[in-house]
Amino acid sequence: MRIILFTGKGGVGKTTIAAATGITVADEGKECLVISTDPAHSLSDSFDRDLGPDPVKITENLYGQEIDVQHELNRYWGVIKNYLITLFRSQGLDDVLAEELAVLPGFDELASLLYVLKYHNENGFDCLILDCAPTGETLRLLSFPEMARWYMDRFFGIEKKLLKLIRPVAESVTKIPMPTEEVMDNIEELYINLSRIKDILEGDSTTVRLVSVPEKMVIRETQRAYTYLNLFGYNVDLMVINKVIPELEGGYLTEWRKIQEKYLDTMANIFPIPKKYVKLYQQEVYGLDLLRKVGEEIYGGEDPLTRYVQERPMRLFKKNGEYVLSLRVPFAKKEEIDIMKRGDELIIITKNWKRILFLPQVLSGKEAVGATFTDGRLEITFNEKVI
Ligand SMILES: Nc1ncnc2c1ncn2[C@@H]1O[C@H](COP(=O)(O)OP(=O)(O)OP(=O)(O)O)[C@@H](O)[C@H]1O
Ligand SMILES: [Mg+2]
Repeated sequence: MRIILFTGKGGVGKTTIAAATGITVADEGKECLVISTDPAHSLSDSFDRDLGPDPVKITENLYGQEIDVQHELNRYWGVIKNYLITLFRSQGLDDVLAEELAVLPGFDELASLLYVLKYHNENGFDCLILDCAPTGETLRLLSFPEMARWYMDRFFGIEKKLLKLIRPVAESVTKIPMPTEEVMDNIEELYINLSRIKDILEGDSTTVRLVSVPEKMVIRETQRAYTYLNLFGYNVDLMVINKVIPELEGGYLTEWRKIQEKYLDTMANIFPIPKKYVKLYQQEVYGLDLLRKVGEEIYGGEDPLTRYVQERPMRLFKKNGEYVLSLRVPFAKKEEIDIMKRGDELIIITKNWKRILFLPQVLSGKEAVGATFTDGRLEITFNEKVI
């Protein structure tokens, strides 16, 4: 099953583009489910149909689902949450605070990820499309399996068997309630599911598509999202630039069109992935007919399930205690590459190619100390600044 995630800054058109992709896939005869976790229920507005917490058939081959996050959370997370509340209370926290703390950061995004796993296992649809939350939250969602693994290792990294032995002693000595077997089973199940989700999202069938508009502030946030998605190991294969003002002869929007042209140029430099454009319509875009038009504009007869990018363009890893950023620099010769670092930006220039890269936090305070270029990949080594 093919999985496509759509993300981008608030209000740029994520839901619209996800829905338009869904109807295009369905029209080509493939069973497609579009899922949203947005509590504002804008997916039903976009399709102009009532949707619910289970898949609802919208038209031939097309289904929509709006997840009730709170409900799903209690189902999967209830037992563990109750244990944490007891644990925090035993440490003297009041009830409200204990409940607040028991919802660890990122856990509210869990519901949609668990659905990815469910539908992947059932394999009933040809394609799953996720209309994700705005970039910040989606990044959290996507880094969630990683983060959760970290939590679980440290927080609950204790063997069940061992726990059975030490529980009576530990509880009387430390006055800390130890997790019951049910809690441990739940944690174990969640843990296993999370690693599976991570594998699915990093696998070849999943790609992430960024929705953006040609405006300064949106570009910056999209750049940040692009870097982090790559570093987390997700394959960003397409950018959809929405609300592009058509070329006009005079008229009120002429200046806007010029501004957009400038940013469209900038975007061409920054994002080394295929781009598709959707014009600014003269009306709100909702309902199957208009969504089909948007789909036609984006894919123009191409199969929306295509993986537009085969290779991940960016990787970050540690080698001999130093951070190495590995990038694909197409069509370049070693002697032609110039690298500059400006704050949290890395600028790479070749003869006819320029990339401005937003650096992740771990690298922005460090210095580029060396670079190698082999087989089209540039590897830059970063180290602590020597003052
Ligand atoms: N190309 C377009 N032309 C005109 N209107 C558009 C276009 N794309 C989207 N819209 C309109 O813009 C509004 C926001 O779109 P949408 O809900 O898809 O954005 P979103 O990124 O999902 O927002 P949110 O971050 O709130 O989830 C909607 O009213 C939609 O009809
Ligand atoms: Mg939306």
